Amino acid sequence: MMLRELQLCVLGRKLPIEFSDAGMDWAADRIRFLLGERIAKIMLITDEQIGLHYSLPLRRALEARGLQTIITSFPPGESEKTLRRVSDLLDKLVLNGFEKSDIIIGLGGGVVTDLAGFTAACYHRGMDWFALPTSLLGMIDAAIGGKTGVNHALGKNLIGTIHPAAAVIADVSTLTTLPERELLSASAEFVKHALLHGGKLWESVQEDGADLRLWDRELLYEMIPECAQVKIDVVEEDLTDSGRRMILNLGHTFGHAIESATDYSLSHGEAVFLGLRAMLRLSERCGLLDALKAMEIDEVLRKVHLKSAEMSPDDVLSFIRHDKKSREGRLNWVLLRDIGEPAITTRVSEIDVSETTEWLCEAAAIGGKPALQLPKRLKIAVFNGPNLNLLGTREPDIYGKHSYQELEDSIRDFAKENGLEVLIQQTNSESEMVTLLQSARHWADGIVINPGAYTHTSVAIRDAIATIGIPTIEVHLSDIESREDFRRGSLMKDVCIEQIKGRGIQGYFNAIDVFREHYYSITGKIPV
Ligand code: DQA
Repeated sequence: MMLRELQLCVLGRKLPIEFSDAGMDWAADRIRFLLGERIAKIMLITDEQIGLHYSLPLRRALEARGLQTIITSFPPGESEKTLRRVSDLLDKLVLNGFEKSDIIIGLGGGVVTDLAGFTAACYHRGMDWFALPTSLLGMIDAAIGGKTGVNHALGKNLIGTIHPAAAVIADVSTLTTLPERELLSASAEFVKHALLHGGKLWESVQEDGADLRLWDRELLYEMIPECAQVKIDVVEEDLTDSGRRMILNLGHTFGHAIESATDYSLSHGEAVFLGLRAMLRLSERCGLLDALKAMEIDEVLRKVHLKSAEMSPDDVLSFIRHDKKSREGRLNWVLLRDIGEPAITTRVSEIDVSETTEWLCEAAAIGGKPALQLPKRLKIAVFNGPNLNLLGTREPDIYGKHSYQELEDSIRDFAKENGLEVLIQQTNSESEMVTLLQSARHWADGIVINPGAYTHTSVAIRDAIATIGIPTIEVHLSDIESREDFRRGSLMKDVCIEQIKGRGIQGYFNAIDVFREHYYSITGKIPV
């Protein structure tokens, strides 16, 4: 279902920003529609963690709509946001004969969309790209507004350009795979947008709290486009970041200084939450914000559970002085006059900044209540190899009458009943299976694999299982030992912790149970 259609009007173009919860088929439909008659090749850029979940389904969906797609992925994380990575991506574009009229898709969080957009900006002096953000931060912030680029060894985002995505296509159902830590970071940016805008956004933060991990999913999905609209409005006024866009730094002058002063032991979200609280205090001290209002807002923010952190006021102050928002030697502070009324000012006294910093360090040390412990859910990846997509019609006497879809559905139901997270992928290709296994190392606690015929031949798949070091169970629907001679051996057997064969679909359930019991024996608790 399409949730909302927004537009970013910049550079004389109307760029769609669309939200839905309808999955990769919907995203591919939109891309096909937006390209119209254009015949374009697609370079799908993603990281291995996101790719594990979505790159194969998206490629299939794009190819089913006549769009030839090449996937390229790299390990997840900020350390990949380098010129070297861009250079690799440009090489791939050249070697695969990409033209200016072809398309790049960035599928992932901020690192991926920054890299994809910057690569698109450089190739042939600018080609179109689509952002498919899969993180909350990406959907409300990073993918919108055209800032693309990479880090330099001496600073974050020092190299880059403004090259807005021709469309942002956000499937909010991808948020179910988002790590907790990232949701907290996105919560801080969300609250920042709510403070900048007020209205319905701030009301929902007041009512449901500033920690979005605790929100009802439906409310979250409804509010994401509202939040994105705040960013769109600011960017439309100041695409090139020469004035108004600075308000998006609310809470970030302190936030960045806290991150640096704690040597990044606090996450970006934790630092920005503290930074926003310090900003409130400073706004009040400068006489901009009414004291009662400051307390009312702080009441909402201080309920977010953060880790405690030790930092010295001198360190924080010295990082503040080096803040990149200082122009012509003076630091531009973004403060608040009221909810929905930010103010940019250089008129902030040293004393007020010092005293606020003292308060901040004390608050960080004692205010850090224990971090919120959400129950750990075991994550199991299930990979099925060649020809298993034809289950039901394929030799039913041997493999059973259930279709492949029924196999997937019953594994999902079983996992749900047992409180586990499960990801299921099928591929007919050996190299894709190797890529899936490698990508799983960023996500899965355990792997269940039915390598199909590759069981008997593939050294590459065996090596991948041995290399990634995640406990893996080999499953076969049929009893391979009692069939033809060439099926008796398995190259996987001695790199897997167990082989289960001849039990049909039940074999997959048994494999998942092995992981549950293993987890139970280590932690003493049943995963919920
Ligand atoms: C299989 C057994 C393999 O020998 C065969 O090639 C398959 C399926 C099974 O599940 O029984 O494709 O892995």
